[in-house]
Parts: sequence; structure tokens; C-alpha cells
Amino acid sequence: MGSLEVKNLDVYYGKHNVLNDISLYLDSGEVVALLGRNGAGKTTLIKAIIGLLKPARGVIRINGTDVTGWPPKKVLELGVSVVPQGARIFPNLTVFENLKISILNSSESKVEDKIEEVLNFFPQLKSRLNQKGGSLSGGERQMVSIARALLRKPEIMLMDEPFAALMPKIVEQLKELIISLSEQNVTFLIIEQNIKQVLEISNRAYVLSGGKISCEDSAEKLLNNPEELARCMGVHAPRM
Ligand SMILES: Nc1ncnc2c1ncn2[C@@H]1O[C@H](COP(=O)(O)OP(=O)(O)O)[C@@H](O)[C@H]1O
Ligand SMILES: [Mg+2]
Repeated sequence: MGSLEVKNLDVYYGKHNVLNDISLYLDSGEVVALLGRNGAGKTTLIKAIIGLLKPARGVIRINGTDVTGWPPKKVLELGVSVVPQGARIFPNLTVFENLKISILNSSESKVEDKIEEVLNFFPQLKSRLNQKGGSLSGGERQMVSIARALLRKPEIMLMDEPFAALMPKIVEQLKELIISLSEQNVTFLIIEQNIKQVLEISNRAYVLSGGKISCEDSAEKLLNNPEELARCMGVHAPRM
């Protein structure tokens, strides 16, 4: 379990066609990068997958189930977690409360255990549980956002620029975590501007350009071929 399929997807904002005939497939346990310049439509694609935007055409399947047109809550209940762009957490809630929100259905004793377990991945947060979200650094907020997504024990993780704002040491920590979870069959779709970092842990990559999938290749090939990657992105030199 944990497969994701997007087929012939068209998404508009009003009359503006942002995604045009997008098809992609993620097998269970795959780590797949979604690359593209600013404004290429990467975030829009994630929003469409989880039902925040209604596609004009196309099909989205999760574990083989057609979820096109489903409300976000129902899609997420299939085992999908999202790390939204920009580390959005509740500024007036404590770190503990921010984490607890994603597992409100658990019993009180289990909440503490689950939070303790996930904080083993981010020990930096352990001393900050009673601190307000708004008082954290950008990197700490990103860690809370990722921990919150992990708490739900997702089969599919959709991550929108998870490395942004993280210190290099934490990026390495997160890369190892992603690899180890993928070995336990969690599927990852990762949008990133840190192209080299994300390709290093990805099996494959899709590139969005001009509203279409401009390239689809193994991560290794793209890593070793910056000219090809630049052509896919529609830029002269890739940012590596
Ligand atoms: N809520 C919105 N209303 C209208 N246009 C939008 C909205 N959100 C994004 N766009 C436009 O859609 C395009 C794709 O945006 P986005 O998916 O955020 O790109 P990316 O995540 O690749 O940077 C851009 O041209 C952006 O200006
Ligand atoms: Mg974006």
C-alpha cells in the first residue's frame, strides 16, 4: 500500500491553466522528486492531489482508489500526510499542542508516547515542547511541521520544500529519516529547490515546466547530467 497515480490532470485558477495533462505514478516505498522553477505549478499539483483544488480533467488514484473530487479530509484519511510549503504551524499553540493536533483521536496516554517517539527523530525539539510555535526559528517550525505529518504514520508523504530553512546538519538528518521510512514502504513525493539534496535520496524525478511534465528520469541520471536537467527546467544553468 502507498501508491499514488495522477492521470491526465488539468488544473486552472480561473481561466489560467496551471497544470496541463499531468500524469505521474509513485509505487509504494518510492522516493520521487518533483522539480521545477518557481511558479511551475508544483504546489498546485499537491493541492490538487489532496482535494484542495478541483481538477478540470483527469484522475487521481491512491492505492488504486479513485479519489478525484474527494474532500481533503477523506483523502488524508487514506494515509496521506502533507508537509505544506513554508512550515505553517499554529503560532499561539505550544509545540506539544501543535503536534497533538494531528493525533486528536488517540487516547491521552498514547499521545504522549507517540510524540515522544517522533521526537527521537528531532531531539532538538524535546526541550521546546512548551514553547509557543510563533517563538521558534524557521528551521524549528519546519521540524514541527514534519514531525506533525509523521505522527499520523502516513503511507504517503507529500512534502513541499521540506529542506527550506533547515540547517545542513538537519537536512542530512531528514534525508536519512526519509530513506529509512521509504525502506519501511512509506512513499514520498518531494518538491525541492535544493535539487542536489533531493536527487541524492530519490529513485526518480519529474520536472514541471510550462504546465507540463517536461522530463521524467531516474534521479541518478539527472544528478549526473546537469545540462539535461537545465533543459528540462527551462533554465540555462541548474542550481545545484
Ligand atoms: N491561489 C491562486 N490563484 C491564482 N493563481 C495562483 C494561485 N496559486 C498559485 N497561482 C499561480 O499558479 C502558478 C503555479 O503556482 P505554484 O503551484 O505555487 O508554483 P510552484 O509551487 O511550482 O512555485 C503560478 O503562476 C502562480 O502565480
Ligand atoms: Mg510551491
